[in-house]
Amino acid sequence: MTPVSPRILLLGAGGRLGRVIARLGAPVVPAGRREADFRTACDIPALVEHIAPDVVINAAAFTDVDGAESSESEAMAVNGHAVGLLAAACARRDIPLIHVSTDHVFPSAQGRPWRPEDTPRPLSAYGRSKRLGEDLIRLTGGRYLILRTSWLFGGGGRDFVSTILGRARQGAPVPVVADQTGGPTPILPLAATLLSLAHRAVTISGLREIHHFTGMPDVSRADFARAIIASAGLETEVEEVTTDDLAAPARRPLDARLDNTSLALRFGISRPDWRLHLEALADRLKTTAPPPHETAHI
Ligand SMILES: NC(=O)c1ccc[n+]([C@@H]2O[C@H](COP(=O)([O-])OP(=O)(O)OC[C@H]3O[C@@H](n4cnc5c(N)ncnc54)[C@H](OP(=O)(O)O)[C@@H]3O)[C@@H](O)[C@H]2O)c1
Repeated sequence: MTPVSPRILLLGAGGRLGRVIARLGAPVVPAGRREADFRTACDIPALVEHIAPDVVINAAAFTDVDGAESSESEAMAVNGHAVGLLAAACARRDIPLIHVSTDHVFPSAQGRPWRPEDTPRPLSAYGRSKRLGEDLIRLTGGRYLILRTSWLFGGGGRDFVSTILGRARQGAPVPVVADQTGGPTPILPLAATLLSLAHRAVTISGLREIHHFTGMPDVSRADFARAIIASAGLETEVEEVTTDDLAAPARRPLDARLDNTSLALRFGISRPDWRLHLEALADRLKTTAPPPHETAHI
């Protein structure tokens, strides 16, 4: 029988996305690094057995995109092998796994937004580690839904928005890449979508799906930065630079647009308009002064 309110095990509950999911008020069992460290992953099967949830949401990940270039084995352990163990533990109990993935599994550009069924060909260690996690989930044979997303903002903490504002408040033109395009995704509707999918997943037998969820409209990072600065009531200019100019350790997909059509058709979930969510943040943006961050390239 389907539980009225499924018991949800939330991994990565202390992260930016995890904290917002936990705040939404659904009955989640939050778990973090203390309960299961994904670097060794040996606690994961016991945790799943002990909690015996109806569904698992995995928001835990090694997310330092540039750091992964010099720590690829750790990224692979956390984003790849641990996720495989988690998927296996879920499959043993026929528990659906809702897993968060990324646009970084795709390469530079192909002239149209990436579809869920397009073949991942990541350019970076982070992307390779996230693809390994996806592959191991699919190979395990259990029930899963992988939701790829991109350019998260909102929910507090450091992100592209706080980075841009920290710099814009200093007054000098802010250098931002103009040759990367994608969908900035407000965390709140992403968190609500993951919870909604978790509830629905419990009743779907044979669930084996990959979907995309990103904010709309797609935009260049430079134009997103302009919108952020304007929302905060600042007039600092954006200086357009190229990805090559920044020479970041990790390569990023230049065209990171994700096609969300399958999610709309299957679950009736549409893309949130990031401009409305930026507006909602505007008052806070005008009064808070986040610290400058070294890179505006997340
Ligand atoms: N941020 C973005 O723009 C973006 C874009 C696309 C996709 N995503 C995906 O969205 C998901 C959530 O990202 P986020 O921005 O919320 O990341 P985040 O703030 O860095 O949070 C990551 C979470 O993973 C946990 N974690 C890291 N290493 C761990 C380990 N060894 N063992 C157990 N837990 C560990 C962290 O725990 P601690 O708090 O203890 O470190 C934290 O709770 C990830 O799957 C990410 O790949 C993010």
